[in-house]
Amino acid sequence: MKMVKILTDKIDIPNYHKIDVYLKEGGYSTIEKALDMGQEKVISELKVSNLRGRGGAGFPTGMKWSFITNQAFPRYLTVNADEGEPGTFKDRLIMTKNPHLLIEGIILTCLTLEIETSYIYIRGEFVKEAQILEDAIAEAYEKGFLGDNVKETGKKVHLFVHRGAGAYVCGEETALINSLEGKKGQPRLKPPFPAVVGLFNKPTIVNNVETIANIPFIIKNGGQAFADIGVERNGGTRLVGVSGHINKPGVYELPMGYPLDKIIYEIAGGILNDKKLKAVIPGGSSTPVLKPDEIRDLPMDYDSLAKAGSQLGSAGVIVISEGTCMVKLLATLEKFYAHESCGQCTPCREGVPWVRDLVVRIENGGGKPGDIDKILDICDNMEGTTICPLATAAAWPAQSFIKQFRHEFEAHINQHKCPFN
Ligand SMILES: Cc1cc2nc3c(=O)[nH]c(=O)nc-3n(C[C@H](O)[C@H](O)[C@H](O)COP(=O)(O)O)c2cc1C
Ligand code: SF4
Repeated sequence: MKMVKILTDKIDIPNYHKIDVYLKEGGYSTIEKALDMGQEKVISELKVSNLRGRGGAGFPTGMKWSFITNQAFPRYLTVNADEGEPGTFKDRLIMTKNPHLLIEGIILTCLTLEIETSYIYIRGEFVKEAQILEDAIAEAYEKGFLGDNVKETGKKVHLFVHRGAGAYVCGEETALINSLEGKKGQPRLKPPFPAVVGLFNKPTIVNNVETIANIPFIIKNGGQAFADIGVERNGGTRLVGVSGHINKPGVYELPMGYPLDKIIYEIAGGILNDKKLKAVIPGGSSTPVLKPDEIRDLPMDYDSLAKAGSQLGSAGVIVISEGTCMVKLLATLEKFYAHESCGQCTPCREGVPWVRDLVVRIENGGGKPGDIDKILDICDNMEGTTICPLATAAAWPAQSFIKQFRHEFEAHINQHKCPFN
C-alpha cells in the first residue's frame, strides 16, 4: 500500500496553521486550476477519485455534488464539524493543525458549485478549534482568498464559523441545518434532501471536514492519483482515531483499506498493559462491535467493514481489552444515545431510554429472564423506523453486543450481579 499522507503530511512544521507558513509550503495553489477546470471537470475528477464522505455514511462526494448543479441560486455549503460521535476526534486534528487546508477545500467547493456563502458548523465544546478557525479565516480574508473578489477572479466566497450548543443530533445534516437557521436542532424528514431544499430552504451541500480537506489534493493531482492511494471504490487516505485500551492512542492517517489488526498492534502499539484484545468498535460508537478473529487482515474501508458485519463510520476505533464488562460498556453507550434523542419519533424517544433502562438493570443485577430478548425486540422496532438514523445508531450496539457477548448478559441475570465486580 502507498503510505502517502494528504491531510497530515506537513502538520509538524512549526506554525503550519498560520497562512504565511501554509503559503510558503505551496498552499492555496489550486484555486486557478479549479476555475480553469470548471464544474463538469472537477466533478468528473471527484467521481474518478472514489472520494466517499468521511462523516460516516460514505456517500460518494462527486455524486453528491452533481445533485446540486442544476438547482437554483443561492446555494450554500455547510461543513460538518460537529464531531459528536463517541470515539471520534479526527476533524479536530485538521482544524487545529491544518485549518488552511480546510479553508482551501471550502473555497474550491464554493467556486466549483457557484456558492457564495459557506458555514463551518462546529461543536460548541471546540472553543479552541473555533478560535483557530476564526483566526485562519481572518488571514484568508486579508490575503484575498476569501471575500467579494477571490484573488481578483470576480468570484465571491464568504465563510462563517457557527458554534453548536452541545447536541449530538446536530451532527445529522438536517438537524445541523435547522440549528444553523436558529431553530431547534431536530432532523427534518427526507426527501427533500439538502441538495434540493437545505439551509434557508435553498440547495445546500453538507460535507464533513475531512471530506472537504481532501479536495485540494484531488484538484492538484487529479482523481486517479487519489484513487490509487486507496482500494477499489474507496479512494485516498483515512484519518483513523484510535482510543480505549491501547498503548498509543491518537489519530493516524493511513491509506484506505489498511488492515485493522495492523492499526491496533503495529501503528498504535498494541493493547494496554499487555492484555488480550476482547473486542473492537471499528468506526465510532454506533458501529457494530467485532471480535478479535473478525479483525484479522480486515481492510479498513467501507465495503470490507460492511461485509464483516460492521461499518467504517467515522473511523473511530475503540479498543476493548479483556476484563471489560460489555454490559457496563453498552449501558454507557445507551445512556449517551438516550440523552441525545431529540424526541420527535416515538421509537427513538421511548425505545432508546427503554433499552438503556433494561441494560442498566441487567448490569446492576436486577435483570429478569426475557430482558435480553425484550431489548432485541425493542431494537427491531427502532431500526430504520425513524426520521433520522439516531435510533438505528442506538440499536446497532445493543444488537451486536448481545449477538457477540450474549453469555455475559445471561451471566449477569443468572448471578444477579456483575460478574466483573
Ligand atoms: C445522529 C447523527 C450524528 C451525526 N454526526 C455527524 C458529525 O458529527 N459529523 C459529520 O460529518 N457527520 C455526522 N453525521 C452524518 C451527517 O448526517 C452527514 O451524512 C455528513 O455530514 C455528510 O458529509 P459527508 O458526505 O462528507 O460524509 C451524523 C449523522 C447522524 C444520524
Ligand atoms: S430518530 Fe431520534 S434523534 Fe432522530 S429525529 Fe427521531 S427522535 Fe430525533
